[in-house]
Amino acid sequence: MKILVTGGLGYIGSHTCVELIKSNYDVIIVDDLSNSKEKVLDRLEQITGKRPKLYKYDLKDKSKIEEIFKENKIDAVIHFAGFKAVGESVQNPMKYYNNNLVSTINLLEVMKKYNVKNIVFSSSATIYGNVGIPKYTEEMGRGKTSNPYGTTKSMIEQILEDIYNSDNSWSISILRYFNPVGAHESGLIGEEPNGIPNNLMPYIMKVAVGELEVLNVYGNDYETEDGTGVRDYIHVVDVAEGHIKALEKLEKENNGLYIYNLGSGKGVSVLELIHTFEKVNNIKVNYKIAPRRPGDLAIYFADPSKAKRELNWETKRSVEEICRDSWNFIKNNSERKSK
Ligand code: NAD
Ligand code: UD1
Repeated sequence: MKILVTGGLGYIGSHTCVELIKSNYDVIIVDDLSNSKEKVLDRLEQITGKRPKLYKYDLKDKSKIEEIFKENKIDAVIHFAGFKAVGESVQNPMKYYNNNLVSTINLLEVMKKYNVKNIVFSSSATIYGNVGIPKYTEEMGRGKTSNPYGTTKSMIEQILEDIYNSDNSWSISILRYFNPVGAHESGLIGEEPNGIPNNLMPYIMKVAVGELEVLNVYGNDYETEDGTGVRDYIHVVDVAEGHIKALEKLEKENNGLYIYNLGSGKGVSVLELIHTFEKVNNIKVNYKIAPRRPGDLAIYFADPSKAKRELNWETKRSVEEICRDSWNFIKNNSERKSK
């Protein structure tokens, strides 16, 4: 089967390409390199022995998407491409509405034209909004999002639902990720944010490797066990495997609209993550307690039981493995950079 992976050179996309190739899918990538590097393609080849075909196109250009569908007989699409920085989306909402929505609408229109109606979409736990209870189940539905990035995810979910309601020969899988972290065990691919990271694990990695001095722990007065924020951190390879399971389901069932949480079901606090990282890697992470970050929730984690029941998917990798693989990647990468 030929799978078009949009955003396939990015963080989650690249790990998913590895799992797709391992499962004998034929992978085609479209990525405009707006938040990734072409060297990831070499790394994919190093890991899998296969080099996926790459189209360096922007999905906002519909004629380029048409070109891909004309040249290749695509069976299904996994749609990762999009911008994802929450803070930037607040500063520059139109950049997010334009890129995330226009790209997706173009893609869906071309898919329809070429009668390719199988799609797996990257959504996020952010679509639940501020629910008031920590454990999120799919049935809760979409709440009020707190930033334009989250709103684009919510809007795309709605678009996909409307498409399915208008034509139920589509097969759509919406995956709501919790907090993807970690890296491939080879140390060859991982997350490389530009500039100063906003998210916790990339920040820990930069402090551990000595590129940043100190990590701010945003608040230790939340109503959680140690007072710091609690999230559901999930190894990126577990996330990637979730996509394979979602694709298999679409192949098997032929059509339908499915929504799944991809999370571990376990909440981990900021301090727990820092201390596990220190212990597993035998390295000190310099941190200090800082005021709460505006907009943050105290605690949330996934109810992943639907994915377990219907996809036979669950996380296999522990927080210790997450910390080990993250460190392995950043260490190798800064060594490579300094050579
Ligand atoms: P990423 O930025 O590493 O990957 C996205 C890729 O899409 C990049 O390689 C980028 O160059 C490409 N891209 C962006 N706009 C494009 C366009 N118009 N045309 C072609 N390519 C384009 O992000 P990621 O962490 O791998 O996330 C993948 C998806 O999962 C995103 O949609 C993101 O919103 C979603 N998601 C991510 C997280 C997370 O924590 N990483 C959590 C929930 C959901
Ligand atoms: C945010 C986004 C989510 C996005 C995710 C990427 C919202 C509501 N959530 O989630 O959409 O998918 O990023 O993984 O927009 N923290 C620190 N110090 C730091 C950074 C973070 O203490 O330097 C704390 C935060 O306060 C939070 C936890 O670490 O308690 C996790 O933060 P982060 O990694 O930014 O992810 P989320 O905010 O959960």
